[in-house]
Amino acid sequence: MAAVAGPDQIVVRRVGELHGTVDVPGAKNSVLKLMAATLLADGRHTLTNVPAIVDVSIMAELLAAIGVPSSSDGPGRLVLTNDGDLVPVAPYELVERIRASINVLGPLLTRCGRVRLSMPGGDDFGARPIDMHIAGLEAMGATFKFSHGDLEATADRLHGADITFGFPSVGATENIVTAAVLADGVTTIDNAAREPEVVDLCEMLVAMGADIAGVGSSRLVVTGVERDALCAVEHRTVPDRIQAATYLAALGVSGGCLTIRDARAEHMSNLLARYTDMGLVIEQGDGELQAVAPERLRAIDVATLPYPGVATDYKPLVITMLSVADGVGIVTENLYPGRFRYVEELTRLGADVRTNGHHAVVRGVPRLSGAPVRAHDIRAGAAMVVAGLAAEGETVITGVHHIDRGYDDLVGRLNNVGASIERA
Ligand code: EPU
Repeated sequence: MAAVAGPDQIVVRRVGELHGTVDVPGAKNSVLKLMAATLLADGRHTLTNVPAIVDVSIMAELLAAIGVPSSSDGPGRLVLTNDGDLVPVAPYELVERIRASINVLGPLLTRCGRVRLSMPGGDDFGARPIDMHIAGLEAMGATFKFSHGDLEATADRLHGADITFGFPSVGATENIVTAAVLADGVTTIDNAAREPEVVDLCEMLVAMGADIAGVGSSRLVVTGVERDALCAVEHRTVPDRIQAATYLAALGVSGGCLTIRDARAEHMSNLLARYTDMGLVIEQGDGELQAVAPERLRAIDVATLPYPGVATDYKPLVITMLSVADGVGIVTENLYPGRFRYVEELTRLGADVRTNGHHAVVRGVPRLSGAPVRAHDIRAGAAMVVAGLAAEGETVITGVHHIDRGYDDLVGRLNNVGASIERA
């Protein structure tokens, strides 16, 4: 009997090959930071290529509570109005729902001289400390006090500092860069994160009037400017490389041929090389990728690394692909201590995956077998959908609200290219 999808459920049935074109929306991990950056300058900011995802709505709520309301004036467009009257407080109810709320710390501190932020919690894949954000801002003159679950930071005016990260943290780089934009003097960040989303943020800040050298490199030099040197801008969000990778993974396990429009090959070159090793034939067109799936994927070994390495966010997709590939693949996680929880769900579908510390050994089986599974986080949720495409019968995925946080109409986009997937 066919399973009925509940409101927080997706039902996937394997139907075979996918054919057609998928448009990749703007990146969650960029747009949320671009939204936070509007705190720095008064005026009417417009972001385009904004994905229709729940995290954007939560960030919009947080910014509205701080004093920057927003509205949409067309598809994929978000207008944020900063009239300069800001309340530098990020309350628990909003912070606990979205990790990227930490990105208001740098802009609010440099703009208002103080901020009270409820401490962000961990994720299902482990604790996510913010010690590097704090140490960097302290080096710039901020003082932190922690009480009753809130972090309170104060600084008369932040000053430039030389900061070297022990690890190229995405969020810490973003917070320090945004704080340094209005600081007194020059801030250098060595071992800065170089992710395309960090570059996107820096490019928007430069368009707003910030002075940032070394954008895209691991050494950023930010020369502070006065507040009236910044202005509101219109900025297009960089396309989402993780979503592009998701549609390629769906193709890999289903067979067929897809055009992925608005995918930036240069932002995912290491992953595309690994996908090619697995047998996908991928050609780069003008702002798009054309990909053809092999008869069966081949197993490979993969290790996650900070950009330009293979991102940790791709890993659940890669493990899902390996679970139906020919051979044995070893996947090593180098960013998060415990990001393997979805493996239990994959094994429910018949995958042969063993984890040991930072490693997963995946022995490919010809086909998975549909069953009820749970999405534990955004990326694991997308991997469950891909696994459903590789499984005989029906796969019923619960915890779909996680997928909604970061995927703009995953169900509709897959249905458009021939998948059988539905949601109540
Ligand atoms: N870390 C620390 N101390 C810090 C900051 C980071 O120990 O002060 C550790 C983290 O605990 C983690 C590692 O460094 O083990 C990486 O953290 P990073 O700061 O680079 O990540 P993030 O900014 O918290 C962003 C994305 C994540 C993505 C990572 C790595 C956003 C909102 N989140 O997180 O995306 O996995 O970079 O690329 O941009 C997702 O989208 O599902 C997601 C989890």
